[in-house]
Amino acid sequence: MATNWTPDSWRNAKGIHMPEYRDAVALAATEETLRNYPPLVFAGEARNLTEDLAKVVEGRAFLLQGGDCAESFAEFHPNNIRDTFRVILQMAVVLTFAGKVPVVKLGRMAGQFAKPRSAPTEVKGEVELPSYFGDIINDIEFDAEGREPDPARMVRAYSQAASTLNLLRAFSNGGYANLKQVHAWTHDYMGRSPWAQKYKETADRIGEALDFMEACGITPETVPQIKGTSFYTSHEALLLPYEQAMTRQDSLTGRWYDTSAHFLWIGDRTRFEGSAHVEYLPGIGNPIGMKCGPSLEPDAMLRMLDTLNPGREPGRITLISRYGYDKVESGLPKLVRAVQREGHPVIWSCDPMHGNVIKSDSGYKTRPFERILAEVRGFFAVHRAEGSFGGGIHIEMTGQNVTECTGGAVAVTDEALADRYHTHCDPRLNAAQSLELAFLLAEMLNQELNERARKAA
Ligand code: PEP
Ligand code: CO
Repeated sequence: MATNWTPDSWRNAKGIHMPEYRDAVALAATEETLRNYPPLVFAGEARNLTEDLAKVVEGRAFLLQGGDCAESFAEFHPNNIRDTFRVILQMAVVLTFAGKVPVVKLGRMAGQFAKPRSAPTEVKGEVELPSYFGDIINDIEFDAEGREPDPARMVRAYSQAASTLNLLRAFSNGGYANLKQVHAWTHDYMGRSPWAQKYKETADRIGEALDFMEACGITPETVPQIKGTSFYTSHEALLLPYEQAMTRQDSLTGRWYDTSAHFLWIGDRTRFEGSAHVEYLPGIGNPIGMKCGPSLEPDAMLRMLDTLNPGREPGRITLISRYGYDKVESGLPKLVRAVQREGHPVIWSCDPMHGNVIKSDSGYKTRPFERILAEVRGFFAVHRAEGSFGGGIHIEMTGQNVTECTGGAVAVTDEALADRYHTHCDPRLNAAQSLELAFLLAEMLNQELNERARKAA
């Protein structure tokens, strides 16, 4: 961290993808309100996550990060939170069972509200208005009043994040996530997917193992990891006035933490040297992610790693590659080699979503499931060839039965996209597609871990 870092030093740097609020007085008042609100997460929790992630760096755990592209005020409902949480649990079970390694569960939840957009304005007919930047900034409805950035939305987003996190904490430790419930984490509408049957078989085997362990005296009462789980939250640190207001000094260590989430990441569009976002992140103690797209050169990446993690703390940095299915095998190796050459401890995670957006014939923004899968395969192929560990996945998904990405075993067709296309931003995998991805990913992870064990022997 630069010695002159302060929670507001980003204000002297170049801040892009942030709104211009017309009413500076209202903005300042909102920031003051938020500064006095309780932290959503504690520094100690962020440190626990860093420790969990350090195991991923060593190849002893896997990172699963997923949730909405953009959380919205409209989709705020306990059932939606529960459904997404339980798909993540299902995916984690499948991955743990196959890989025999713990899975670090990280939701794109409880704060993922702000979006960078490719164009600052949107034009419909004769009318040009600001683009939609996420519910924490403005309204998705195309009307002049709604599209005006409104600082009061930050308070509403904080409150939604607080209730979401409260429910997630209850689900994680109040009995719902007890491994003995593994059969109950299914969704009725997944019945038609062959992967739902496969999940049931996995759950049966886990159930048998738990019965056996119980007979040996290992029960949810004696082993807390059976009874509940750790679940962490994350979002893109994009709207810096909000993040700054949530940045607090930890009384135990004196270090600053962004208490709006456990993990924050910097997007592909704001990770350039000298950006306000790059100025802000080094000062916080939370583990952080950086999206790595095709335009990132190895030297710039290394300079960024020196800035973000000068102490080379394992678990602090997750590099999230997002190349596109046809670019990952040519683009990613040079980054992996540079990291290996310099010996930076990082987690490599694969975002197979953001490089694979296409416009369907029916006019919807979509992502074909087979391309998502192809990028994941390419990602593992690169890591196998380079001898590094592909340690994570970063996906946009929901527990709802949406039709936003095409393909999968219960194929969503181009024509069907219109049926239940609800996302506020990018298309998400539905529950069946997420589970299918988990099983296919589990095979790749299993292969990767076996190969590593064989090489180490
Ligand atoms: C996102 O994760 O929603 C996003 C905008 O990704 P990227 O920065 O990789 O484009
Ligand atoms: Co997105």
